[in-house]
Amino acid sequence: MSRILIVDDERNMRKILASNLAQDQHSVSEAAGVAEARACLAANQFDAVITDQKMPDGEGLDVLACARELDPALSVVFLTAFATIELAVESMRQGAFDFVTKPFQPEVVRATARRACEHTELLRENDLLKLTVDRLEGSAEIFGNGPAILAVREMIARVAATNVTVLITGETGTGKELVARAIHKSSPRAQKPFIPVNCAAFTETLLESELFGHEKGAFTGADRMRLGLFEAAHEGTLFLDEAGEMSPATQAKLLRVLTDGKVVRVGSTKPRDVDVRVLVATHRDLDERVRQGTFRQDLYYRLAVVPIPLPPLRMRREDIPGLCELFCREVSSDLKVPMRRISTKALEKLKRYDFPGNIRELRNLIERALILSVTPEIGPDDFPLARADEKASLDGEGKLTWLASMPETVDLRNFLEQVEKGLILRALEASDGVQAEAARRLQLSRSDLAYKLAKYEIKMDRG
Ligand SMILES: Nc1ncnc2c1ncn2[C@@H]1O[C@H](COP(=O)(O)OP(=O)(O)OP(=O)(O)O)[C@@H](O)[C@H]1O
Ligand SMILES: [Mg+2]
Repeated sequence: MSRILIVDDERNMRKILASNLAQDQHSVSEAAGVAEARACLAANQFDAVITDQKMPDGEGLDVLACARELDPALSVVFLTAFATIELAVESMRQGAFDFVTKPFQPEVVRATARRACEHTELLRENDLLKLTVDRLEGSAEIFGNGPAILAVREMIARVAATNVTVLITGETGTGKELVARAIHKSSPRAQKPFIPVNCAAFTETLLESELFGHEKGAFTGADRMRLGLFEAAHEGTLFLDEAGEMSPATQAKLLRVLTDGKVVRVGSTKPRDVDVRVLVATHRDLDERVRQGTFRQDLYYRLAVVPIPLPPLRMRREDIPGLCELFCREVSSDLKVPMRRISTKALEKLKRYDFPGNIRELRNLIERALILSVTPEIGPDDFPLARADEKASLDGEGKLTWLASMPETVDLRNFLEQVEKGLILRALEASDGVQAEAARRLQLSRSDLAYKLAKYEIKMDRG
C-alpha cells in the first residue's frame, strides 16, 4: 500500500482523485493548499504527491520545493488545467516526476501515481544501499562547511596520496576514526586492508603480540604462531587508536617498525619486511606526555610528521544544523523510524550547548529523540541537556559552584556513592558500554573501573 498526498483547493477535485486512487488500495491524504500540504509533509512520510498548479495560497511549485526539502526521494506529480509546455518544462526542471493535464482520464492518473510511488521506492532503496556501502567502506562523508573542517578535508586530500604517518588529535567523539578511514579510502591503499587497533583496550603484553604477532611457545598460552596486525595490514593501513596509551616497551618496538619497516614477532629474532601505512590517533596531549617522560620523544616526532587536530563541536557550531539533518536521515533509515525534522527552537537549544562528547554525543541525542519523541517535529524538550550552570564547575577560588545549593546536613558516604555510581552509569552509556572507553572518560584505570562496577553491582551486557 502506498501513501499519496493530494493537494488541490477544489474539494470536488480532491474527492474524485481520492476515489480513483483508492481503487489501487493506496492510502490517500488530502490538503487544500500549500500550507496544509507543508504541514502534512512535515508530519508524515508519503510515496507520492499529486498537486494542483494554482491555489489561493501558492503554487504547485511551492509544494514541490517543500517536498524536495523534506524528503528528496518523494515523487511529485503536477495536475494542471493550464498545461503549457513552459509550465511542464519548468516543473520537470525543478524536479517534478511527471504531469497530468486536466480534465484527466482516471486510468492515466492511476498509472502515473503507481509509477510515481515505484520511483520513490526505488530512490529510497538506492539511498539506503549507498548509505550501507559507504558505511561498509567507512567513507561516511566528513560533514562540515566551517573553516576548521574545510582545513581538515584539505589536509586529508593532501596526505592521502603519500605514505606519511599522520597524528590525528581531538577530544572524544570529534571524528578521529572517521578521518583515519577517509585518509585510507582516498589513498592508493584503498583496496587493501584498513585495520584499526585500540591500544587502550589491551594489556601491555597482549598489545605487543596483537601488533607484532608471536611465535609458537613465545609465552605461556601461545600454543600456536600468530600473525600480528602489522603483517595482516601489509600493503594497507594500520590505525593505532589511543596511541598515547602504549607502554614504553611497545613504543620502542613501534619505533623500530616505523624506522626500518620490519617487524619482529614476539619470541622470534627474525625481522620481517612489512609495507604498512600507520595512522595514529589520541585524545591525549602527547606533547605533554613527552614532557612528562611517559611518551618517547623520538617516537612522537616519527608519528607527528603531519598532525591533524580536529576541532571540538563547540568551536564549529555552524555545522550543527547540517549534522542534525544528516543524522536524522541516517538514524531514521537505520532504525526504521519515521524521519522527522528538528524544530527551530530545538536547533537553537542544540547550538547553545557545549557537547562534551562532540559529534558522537549529537548523534546519540538525535537517535534518542527520534525514538522517544511522538510529536511531528522534534522539540527542545526532546533534548534533555545539562545546562551550563548546572555543570560541576569550579569558581575562581576553586570551590564547586553547585555546593551552595546542597543542604548543610548530608549523609556524605551515601551521597558520594550515589554521585559515583551515577557518573559511572553515565560514562558507560556515553561509551556504548565499552568499558575501556568509559574508564578513559572517567580517567580511571580499567581495573579501578572494574572494581567499582563490581562494588555497585553494575552488570554489563557487552564490552
Ligand atoms: N564530520 C563528521 N561528519 C559526519 N559524522 C561525523 C563527523 N565526525 C564524526 N562523525 C560521527 O561521530 C561519531 C564519532 O566519530 P569517531 O568515532 O570517528 O570519533 P573519535 O574522535 O574517534 O572518538 P573517540 O575519541 O571517542 O574514539 C561517529 O558516528 C562518526 O561517524
Ligand atoms: Mg575513536
